[in-house]
Amino acid sequence: MEIIYLETIPDVDIYHDLRTSVGWATFSKEQSKKALMNSCHCVIAKDGNQTIAIGRAVGDGMYYTIVDVIVRPQYQGRKVGTEIINRLVDLINRDTVAGGRTSIQLIAAPGKEGFYVKQGFKVLPNENAGAALRKVIYT
Ligand SMILES: CC(C)(COP(=O)(O)OP(=O)(O)OC[C@H]1O[C@@H](n2cnc3c(N)ncnc32)[C@H](O)[C@@H]1OP(=O)(O)O)[C@@H](O)C(=O)NCCC(=O)NCCS
Repeated sequence: MEIIYLETIPDVDIYHDLRTSVGWATFSKEQSKKALMNSCHCVIAKDGNQTIAIGRAVGDGMYYTIVDVIVRPQYQGRKVGTEIINRLVDLINRDTVAGGRTSIQLIAAPGKEGFYVKQGFKVLPNENAGAALRKVIYT
């Protein structure tokens, strides 16, 4: 069956199922729903009725963060992740005003840096930027 790509937010149960498929913890339904709704862009891939991949961008028109890039294990290695990233980058590109500048950040899961390098992302720190930093808050 042909894989199709849609710019839409998945149902929260499908989102949690995608996270679980790659061994990621889920959030409360309430927090997940709010986060999905607050996406600037969300791209999913479907094979028939099954949602097989997702990627989201959050941001403000100047700075964006790509999150939740997930391809179900049985569909990995078939360029689905590449297509999701290309589509998110294209949507962000179209958001950006003429003559403007936008940067897209993300934190790679351990061992996944090489995938993003292939999509044109630069590992930090580099000659132009320091290390990325993160604080996680638990409530
Ligand atoms: C990481 C992930 C999104 C990649 O998606 P995918 O559809 O399997 O990747 P693609 O088939 O589009 O791969 C594109 C290229 O990246 C390479 N690549 C994929 N994963 C890689 C990795 N971990 N390290 C280095 N290169 C990698 C592929 O070999 C391919 O190279 P090629 O263009 O030379 O053939 C997917 O494996 C996944 O969902 N993993 C589990 C969840 C996860 O860790 N997500 C990332 C969160 S930051």
